[in-house]
Amino acid sequence: MFKKKTVKDINLRGKTVLLRVDYNVPIKNGIIQDDFRIRQSLETIKYLISQECKIIICSHLGRPEGMDPSLSLRPVVLRLSKLLNKGVAFAPNLSSENINSEVKNLKSGQILLLENLRFNPGEDKDDDKFAKQLSELADIFVQDAFGVVHRYNASTVAVTKYLPSVAGLLLEREVDTITNVAQNPKKPLMVVVGGAKIADKIDILERFISMADYIMLGGAMANTFLKASGTEIGASKYDENELPLARRILQLAKTESKKRNFTLQLPFDVVVSKKMDSNTTLRIVDWSSYSLSEIESYPKRPPKRGSTVLSDEKIFDIGPFTGAYIAGVMQSMNTVIWNGTMGVTEVPSLITSTGPYSHGSELVLQAISGEFGHKPFSLVGGGDTAGFVQSKEMSANINHLSTGGGASLELLGGHKLPGVEALLDK
Ligand code: 3PG
Repeated sequence: MFKKKTVKDINLRGKTVLLRVDYNVPIKNGIIQDDFRIRQSLETIKYLISQECKIIICSHLGRPEGMDPSLSLRPVVLRLSKLLNKGVAFAPNLSSENINSEVKNLKSGQILLLENLRFNPGEDKDDDKFAKQLSELADIFVQDAFGVVHRYNASTVAVTKYLPSVAGLLLEREVDTITNVAQNPKKPLMVVVGGAKIADKIDILERFISMADYIMLGGAMANTFLKASGTEIGASKYDENELPLARRILQLAKTESKKRNFTLQLPFDVVVSKKMDSNTTLRIVDWSSYSLSEIESYPKRPPKRGSTVLSDEKIFDIGPFTGAYIAGVMQSMNTVIWNGTMGVTEVPSLITSTGPYSHGSELVLQAISGEFGHKPFSLVGGGDTAGFVQSKEMSANINHLSTGGGASLELLGGHKLPGVEALLDK
């Protein structure tokens, strides 16, 4: 049960509300590539409109160092306005005089979107001065940016010192659902972890090792584990600094497997290529079948090439056997948590109906969706992963598609979220 006050627990009628959302959406040449996070914010906005609030929306976008026009939130104005079927004003300048006059002009039910909060260096530093400046615009603060409540930012923590602060409806749903899955998953539980944000995820694995029945690793982070376990990964991306940690995790998993029925599985075949484009030839490198081919070609030795990533090759996806294995194991799981794609799915030039490095993620998605018979309860998170599910138009097949990446992992890992803790208790 969510223990913080929400928009429904206080009287908001006619108030000016500062609403923090997560509009950190992929934008290319001013065009929004995926509006999932924007659509997920509509429920709270519509509720605030129904309460005749004056609504000031704020968000971050990307990780700018100072002002960066390519990370302006301006493209969001049109999309939001279209989704709500009403006008949305934009405040391009975060200095107080400018915003103050815009806010004064707001009428009940009207919306003003502020420019990217991270253009102000105070945002990242959880700066009191910037938070106070923001708080002076409104009567109440509503936190609905689930994706960023694991961060200590001016608009997640400091601002709550200056305004009565409550949760939005998206934040409530995210925290409730994810906490339930983390504390009381219907077993057996499988956790599929991939993607590139290695440092953010490796810590969380520790908790999953004691919680889950299966952990499957894919994506760039699996490369670090493969390297740590002595597998040749050629020129693949991996994180040198995390090697000792990866070794420790592998050791932890080994110890856990001796105690109970638990498996941490690395990919046993991968898709490799010399270059990440759709023209360069791909190869499947399969470590698991090497001994088999050795027997089959006896007395000759099979070429080692088939089971080795060459020094100029990079791993871009899990292989078909690993994908099939994951899908197979999933048939006996009751809960599946998936965070992080298995291969490269987010490079626009590679996004075709059969993107060359998205087969692993496709198999996982199909299995989670019940396309092979059994449908487990599914919790899916992570920016690229959610984007991938959207691009395949399969979000309806997921029980809970989270708008958060790091935040959902923190919550699953049993950590408190500072931006939630700072809100008023029920
Ligand atoms: C996300 O995309 O995970 C959130 O918007 C948080 O972004 P950040 O990792 O840049 O803080």
